[in-house]
Formats: sequence, structure tokens, C-alpha cells
Amino acid sequence: MSRIYLSGPDVAFEERQAVLSAIDSNWVAPVGPDLDAFEAELSAWTDSQHVVGVSSGTAALHLAMLLLGVGPGDEVIVPTTTFVPSANAAVYVGARPVFIDIEPTTWCLSPDLTREFLEQRAKNGNIPKAAVVVDLYGQCADYRELIPIFREYHVAIVEDAAEALGAKRDGLSAGSFGAIGALSFNGNKIITTSSGGALLTDDSAVRDHARKLATQAKEPLPYYEHIEMGYNYRLSNLLAAFGRAQLASLAAKIQRRREINEMYRSAFADLEGVDFLQVPDSSEPNYWLSCITVDPGGGRTWDDVRCKLEEHDIESRPTWKPLHMQPLFRGAESHLDGTSEWVFERGLCLPSGSSLTNQQVERVASIVADFLLR
Ligand SMILES: Cc1ncc(COP(=O)(O)O)c(C=O)c1O
Repeated sequence: MSRIYLSGPDVAFEERQAVLSAIDSNWVAPVGPDLDAFEAELSAWTDSQHVVGVSSGTAALHLAMLLLGVGPGDEVIVPTTTFVPSANAAVYVGARPVFIDIEPTTWCLSPDLTREFLEQRAKNGNIPKAAVVVDLYGQCADYRELIPIFREYHVAIVEDAAEALGAKRDGLSAGSFGAIGALSFNGNKIITTSSGGALLTDDSAVRDHARKLATQAKEPLPYYEHIEMGYNYRLSNLLAAFGRAQLASLAAKIQRRREINEMYRSAFADLEGVDFLQVPDSSEPNYWLSCITVDPGGGRTWDDVRCKLEEHDIESRPTWKPLHMQPLFRGAESHLDGTSEWVFERGLCLPSGSSLTNQQVERVASIVADFLLR
């Protein structure tokens, strides 16, 4: 039996055809009609007026920091439960991340703790310049609460929607809530370009500046003139062609991941010690990963469940280790209430890829259920 992966790429014949056509068109560069079309199609999917295709989600976050003028000595709010690039982007530009804990329901940035933190900081006029708000595991943060808080304190929002393409909250699309949004098309994301990402904005000046910074910041002159520091961050036209074919089946991919989530929920419905990430009424996740918290009892932990799955050649992963616990960020300021550490002690992400068969999902669920019942 072949290995079951956490979130493998789901690639069809159309992707192959799309890349071959792009090669035949001779647009083998980080410019071309497929890149333009991919950006336009993403703009429609995300309700964002402008999209800049880039080489990774990390590049989009780095550019976001530069575009918002975040620099040495500034602080950036980051939820502590997330993948490390959400915070690294601040460090790339010489700023410091400040970690805030998450909500127990969705595991996204806690509005209550954020308000409390900013109220404290306002007393000595020391307000962070920006916040990277993360849409964790395919579900948007609570922007209805967060946006007014950040607006009151003039903190710019960068929405890290790397995991959440296609999700919605209060009817609005992931990636469209902040001044700038970031998407990832890494190999394990809901759609992939193998590696790639996108920067989203409603501001055409930000879009133009992002394109410039992503292509070595050439001035519009016939010769090579550079006033500011640029990067080589643009997405290639070939990968954009691949991405367009993936995007065409995004709705089906979301539907499949949702079905997988429902299969796990019904398989574990009567099991004690298993809980799922909650989905508030206002939220329409893309179900990127199905995550549970487990308390298997008898001195066992989530890692025993992971090892049991591994014995059957099934990949599962712990939830993100909180960034305030990472050696890389030792000494960083944090505003915590214990939720992220509680989740990390129990959280496990189960195989969730849209190409999994029902049989595979049933196999995973029955191994977990048998283990927990013992
Ligand atoms: C929350 C989050 N932010 C940022 C990234 C970075 O995206 P990329 O891998 O495309 O650089 C990822 C995924 O890898 C992610 O999960």
C-alpha cells in the first residue's frame, strides 16, 4: 500500500497541458499571458482588486513589510501559533515580532488579547507598526472584531492567507481583509504551483511598487538604474500556467477537503478526548487541514497517535509549535493566556489532501479510533 501523505498535491491532466502550451507559446519567463491571467483569476477569487504573482508566500510577506514601510526598530504583532515565515518577514526588515495568543475556538489571533495588549501599549505611546494576522489551517481570523481594534490604534494589517485561499468570513474572501494579503501555492497547499505565492491589495500604487520590488527595482529608464533595493521574487509564467489549471478546480478541492473533514467528524463523534477546530457561523473555511486535539488518556499523547499512524505509513503532523517557544525567538515579547501551549500539547493534523480516496480516509480514521479506544 502506498504512503498516505498529510496534504499531497492534487494534479490532473489539465496542468500538464497548460504547462506544455505555455512552453509552446515561448513565454518562458517571469512575465507572460498566463501570469497576467492567473493574477486576474486570483483577483476574482479573492475579491482583491490587484494581485502580484510571486515566488512564494514568504516573498509576499517580505514585500508586504517593505511596502508598509516596516523597518529597523519597529514592532509587528504576530499570533504565536503559525508557521515561522509569518514572523520571519518582520525580522527580514529589521523589525521585532511581538507574539499574541490565539482564540481557543479557531486558533487564530485572539481579539480580546490583542485589545488588551494595545490598550497597555497605548499608555506609553508604544504601538506596533503592523500586524500579520494569520488565517490558520484554512479558516479566516475574526476580522469583524480585529479590524476596528487595529483601526483604532492605526496598526496596518497584513493578512497571511497562505493556508486559506477560497475561505470566507462574513461573506468576504480570505486575503482581502488587510492592507495587503499573502497567499502561498507551496506543494502542500490547497492549490499549488510547486512553489509560488501572491500578494493581494486594493491599492494600485502598492501593486505597482510590489511589481517593481519583485523584479530588482529597475527604474523606468532604458538603462539599468536602481534607487531602491529590489528582489527577484516574481512568479514564472510556466508556473502561473500550472496554477491556472489548479485554480480551475479550487471549488472542487474545497468541497473534497470539506467532505474529508466531515468523515473524520462523524468517525470520531462518539469518541471521548477528541475535539475539532470550531467553525463559527460566520466562517466558511477551505478545510485545508483537518486538525484535532487529542487526549488519549493513560499517559499517552498526540505523539503516540502520530507514531501509530506512522507504523501504517500514514503521515500526520503536530500543530504549529508556538513561535514564543521557538529558540529562534527566545527573548521576544509575548502576550499569552496559555491557549497556544494547550493546543500544541494536544494538536494533530490528519491527512487532508483532496486526492485522498474515501477508503484512505476511513483507514486513517479507524486507526486513530482503534488506538484511542484501547
Ligand atoms: C501560515 C503560513 N504563512 C506563510 C507560509 C509561507 O508560504 P511559502 O511556503 O509559499 O513561502 C506558509 C506556508 O508555507 C504558511 O502556512
